[in-house]
Amino acid sequence: MCGIVGILGQQDVASSLVDALKRLEYRGYDSAGIATVNAGALDRRRAEGKLRNLEEKLKLTPLHGTSGIGHTRWATHGRPVERNAHPHATDRVSVVHNGIIENFRELREELEATGVVFESDTDTEVVAQLLTQTLGHINDPVKAVEAVLPRLRGAFALGMLFAGEDDLLIGARQGAPLAIGYGEGEMYLGSDALALAPFTDQISYLDDGDWVVLTRKGASIFDAANKPVKRAKVHSAAGAYSIDKGNHRHFMMKEIHEQPEVVGRTLAHYLDMRQGEVALPDGCKVDFSQVDRLTIAACGTAFYSGLVAKYWFERFARLNVDIDIASEFRYREAPLTDKGLALFISQSGETADTLAALRYAKAEGLKVLAVVNVPTSTIARESDYQAPTLAGPEIGVASTKAFTCQMTVLACLAIAAGRQRGVLSREDEKRLIGELMAVPALMAQALKQAGAVKKLAHDLSRVKDVLFLGRGTSYPMALEGALKLKELSYIHAEGYAAGELKHGPIALIDEDMPVIVIAPRDNIYEKTISNMHEVAARGGRIILITDQQGIEEADMPDAATIAMQAMPSDFAAIVYAVPIQFLSYYAAVALGTDVDQPRNLAKSVTVE
Ligand code: M6R
Repeated sequence: MCGIVGILGQQDVASSLVDALKRLEYRGYDSAGIATVNAGALDRRRAEGKLRNLEEKLKLTPLHGTSGIGHTRWATHGRPVERNAHPHATDRVSVVHNGIIENFRELREELEATGVVFESDTDTEVVAQLLTQTLGHINDPVKAVEAVLPRLRGAFALGMLFAGEDDLLIGARQGAPLAIGYGEGEMYLGSDALALAPFTDQISYLDDGDWVVLTRKGASIFDAANKPVKRAKVHSAAGAYSIDKGNHRHFMMKEIHEQPEVVGRTLAHYLDMRQGEVALPDGCKVDFSQVDRLTIAACGTAFYSGLVAKYWFERFARLNVDIDIASEFRYREAPLTDKGLALFISQSGETADTLAALRYAKAEGLKVLAVVNVPTSTIARESDYQAPTLAGPEIGVASTKAFTCQMTVLACLAIAAGRQRGVLSREDEKRLIGELMAVPALMAQALKQAGAVKKLAHDLSRVKDVLFLGRGTSYPMALEGALKLKELSYIHAEGYAAGELKHGPIALIDEDMPVIVIAPRDNIYEKTISNMHEVAARGGRIILITDQQGIEEADMPDAATIAMQAMPSDFAAIVYAVPIQFLSYYAAVALGTDVDQPRNLAKSVTVE
């Protein structure tokens, strides 16, 4: 996690560093800092908490210098206090770091034994101290970095600045992303192209093991064996996206409202709408007829989109599906078959657990398909097939539009698989495509429920525990509803398969326990409603999400309801995501939590 940036500029770089950090704040936001070289000397400003605290500090004590580095932190080692904020520095070097130096304890002991005194509890400071000690023997920053890098174990992206070197910035990448930006007499380094978008659209991505020496004239890149290498310069489209909230109070609300548009855009990418069929774009023309097992792995909300897709692949394509949380998949030694296909789902494309699972599957000889929102991400680049979600940048830490776009792509893939495997007839496919094409308009209708959901969410914000129930594809939606409520409002919530409640959790039910029942009118609607009555009979307070006919058939006048449009049930999960997102959003607003940047979280989780 954490975001890093570096600039070799023509003018003072402090405000540009802060601008870039604003675009990286999604990667962590518990403290921030910048350092510059000014008249040959290193100086820095750091602040605990959000970036605005650093901005305040910079107003009082500005930082000058035309070369600098910056960092926004998600703490791994050491509490989020100023002392542990990056950059970590000595009088000779200043370092920003994303990732974890796994052998930092032994390096720290070794340095302390030689008299080095550490000022922080972080793993990062060992890099600054090691470089400083090495510079004492080899008075050459480039050679010092070359000597120090092989001593570091773990996953990291580093930016390093040196006293007396106004025209030098060194970066290194091992397992965490790092991009180089090319300007006119200026050079940049950043965790992603989005951070660099205000400055340049000319980007190179470092490969694992690469390190780079930047001067204002350009970049010299070396691989892990210190051989000079070239990395392609590509045009980044990141600048095309505005990173603002529009008329909304929070990015999350803006992103919820963007869903009809981005789901529509994603559908247009995967469908031949006139023919009423899936037309898989270049890059993801998978032949599912040759696949005997699909193994899905992902984390968090992306995992729930995969769980929804399991129902679709099994039903539409009669394809065996295994699904696992990425951090578990890698270590459970699942037997994988030659004809298996591994599918990884990720908004950021940088999630460390998902990336590790991908590399494991590749090493086992599987072909890899990735559903990703960031096309230049590591997961996208390391996959055999890429299926992009066209959600655009998602800034709110809670995943909303990326989630519904993931389900949209997965629905298209499942239909394509059904056709290729001879399970779906031409008519079946046309019908399903028709249903999918109606989803954006149904989502737009669902957005109109905001006011009604807000009132219910207000009541919800006063309780301590909440249960979400669903069956079929509504079961993963129940899990997703619970995750959203937890991460945004800090209210304890659990998602359950409605039929499983009677096997234990029903003991939790009393009149203080709200139970949110997600029940589109599908083939198991009646069973879900029976489970709902079992809860009500024990005093549970019901919030029922279904359509008007579903509300009437449920026959529960005391239940609070969210009335959805009637719709075919196959892809209802995508539409029902909207009221679930509203519930957690408005509960969080009522409680006054930080909606876009909930405590302890980061958007891009690049540590295992
Ligand atoms: O970038 P990814 O989709 O790989 O991220 C996976 C999870 O970290 C992410 O979905 C997380 O659970 C969200 N905060 C949920 O809203």
